[in-house]
Formats: sequence, structure tokens, C-alpha cells
Amino acid sequence: MTGKVLEMISLFMTALSNCTLYSKEHPSVYSLSERSAGILEELYNEDRFTIAVLGERLIVNDLPFAGKSVHMNGFMKKLRRKGIEKIVVSRGLTPEELKEFISEIALSDTIKGAYPHISSGVVEVNLKAAGYDFPAVMEENRGKVKELYQGVARFKPLDMAGLESVVMSFISTLKQETRVLRGVSPVKSHSEYTFAHATNVAVLSICQAESLGLKGEMLHDICLAGLLHDVGKMFIPKELLDKQAKLDENEWNEMKKHPVYGALYLSKLHDVPKLAVIATYEHHMRFDGTGYPDTKKRGKKQHIASQIIAISDFFDALRTERPYRRALEVPVICGLLTEASGKEFNPLLVENFLRSIRKNI
Ligand SMILES: [Fe+2]
Ligand SMILES: [Fe+2]
Repeated sequence: MTGKVLEMISLFMTALSNCTLYSKEHPSVYSLSERSAGILEELYNEDRFTIAVLGERLIVNDLPFAGKSVHMNGFMKKLRRKGIEKIVVSRGLTPEELKEFISEIALSDTIKGAYPHISSGVVEVNLKAAGYDFPAVMEENRGKVKELYQGVARFKPLDMAGLESVVMSFISTLKQETRVLRGVSPVKSHSEYTFAHATNVAVLSICQAESLGLKGEMLHDICLAGLLHDVGKMFIPKELLDKQAKLDENEWNEMKKHPVYGALYLSKLHDVPKLAVIATYEHHMRFDGTGYPDTKKRGKKQHIASQIIAISDFFDALRTERPYRRALEVPVICGLLTEASGKEFNPLLVENFLRSIRKNI
């Protein structure tokens, strides 16, 4: 059975990439779907075939799956990014129906189509029934992000499955939470700053992205980018990060390299979405072309995801007490954001951020 499942996944993933490369009407997409549906005929267990992603493991027909392949990793990654944890296929599936399902996964953010023989489970955790407590969810994820950041080292892969679980938890939590600032508490401890700040920036960035109507993979990638934007600080000497006084010019110049260090590190990891690499590199660039790294001579403009993260970053950093300044109150930061609108930050995004923050207070 292992070989058949791997072959089916390989055909599925090839059809998916042909859909993206050419179009869903390309003849290869139909023929690959037809072959994939043919293999499924041999895999039904009491007229059903179930495939589920559980953390880093694949579960097939309710049993842990032992096979391994590059396509299988890509398949699991794709499903996670779409927020799909389970696909159930029932006997009677036609190649046409499978082709439509594959093309929707390839080309849309969310699965909306109705399929008579396929059901896909989107992660929708019933948090209220599970005694959901937003600050507690934040606390738990802060702990996970701390461990992930501490595991960062040159040439060492990131725990992507761990990161994905934090992303999915935030996305499903925020669907239920209206008062987001309850969980995005100012960072208290200096040593915890980088980890706690990363979780706050991720949550504030999803809120912005969601209120702009962004969904699915884009929302997922922005959350991941928020979590990773300061990962380059793990390559800055600890004495600088922990320094309890204002940095001198040389130290500050070194600190300003963290976006480059972070982007370089992430660009070498094949599982990290490009958007996270871009936003890590650009989060200290400004809307008016100033900021760092200095790219204005090349006429480089900040990606919208980087612009979103820059606003979350500014907001969270100012709420935190630093050795050289007091923590600022939310209304004061909102005033500073308004002042910087159109210069440091995209004015439309500032307006949107302030609107959602006011709703949240
Ligand atoms: Fe930063
Ligand atoms: Fe930051």
C-alpha cells in the first residue's frame, strides 16, 4: 500500500504544480487526476480513503504512514498552509471532480467548492468549548516561540512543524477573539523581549491582514513572517542584545544588520515561504524609501507584508519599556503612528491599523 499512496501523492502534486504553471484546463492536469483517481480505487477502505496531517506525521486510513518522499513533504506542507488537516474521499470519485479539487487547492486561498465525494477538514478548533482563554493561548505560544528561537543557529534547520503549529493556533484563536490587545501584552522582561515581541508582532500582523481581507496562504505567511522577522537578532552578540544602556554608534550599526542576517539565514531554509524572507529583510525599511537596509538607490519598495509588519513592530516596541525610555501608552503610540503616516508607514495601512486597534481596546 505504501508505494501506491506515494504514487497517488506524487500524481496529485504534479497535477497541482501543472495547474499553477499552465492552467487547470491543461490536458496533463486531467490525465494526472485520472491516474490519481485510478490508484485511489485500490486504496479505499470500506469505500473511504482518509488522509490526515498530524504535526509532522501523515495518517492514512487512520494508521500512521511510514512512507517518505519529496512529494509527500510538499503535500503535507501544502495542506498545512491551506489549514486543511484531513481529506476524506469516498468511492464514486470521478477524475473531473478530483481535477476541480486539485485546481482549487492550487489556485484559491480557501476551499469553497462543493464536492460530492471529497470532504476536507479545515482546522476549526472549538476554543470556547475547550475552556479557551486568549491570554493563556498567547502565553503557551510565547513559550513555544522562545524554544524555536533558542534552537536557531547557522546551518541548522528551523523547527518548521513547531512554527506551523503556532501559526495555526493564532489563526484559529483570532477567529474567536475580538479584543486582541488582551493577549498582546507589553513585554515585561528584558531577556524575554525577542520571543514575546515576535509573538505580539505575529498576532498584530494577522489582525491587520485579516481586516484587509487577506486569507489562506497569505494570512498564514504573514503570521509566519511576523514570528520570524527578528530571527536575525540570534546572530547579534548577546552583550548587545542584553545591554541595559543605549547602544553607541558602532553597536547600533551592528544591531542594524539583523534584517540581513535574518533574511540570509531564512533564505537557506527551503521550507520557509519567500514572503517571510522578504519581510524579515524589509521590516525596518520605510514607506518613504528611508530606513535600513538602505535600498533606495535601487528604487526598492517595501512589500505590503513588510509594511504591515513594520507597523506591528513599531506599535509593540513602543509599548515595551527599554533601558533608555519608558513604555508608552496605546493612545500615545496611536498619535505617533498618525504623525509617521505617509512618511515611515503606508497611510492606508496606518488608518486600517488604528481602526482595528480602537475596536480592540
Ligand atoms: Fe527588527
Ligand atoms: Fe521587531
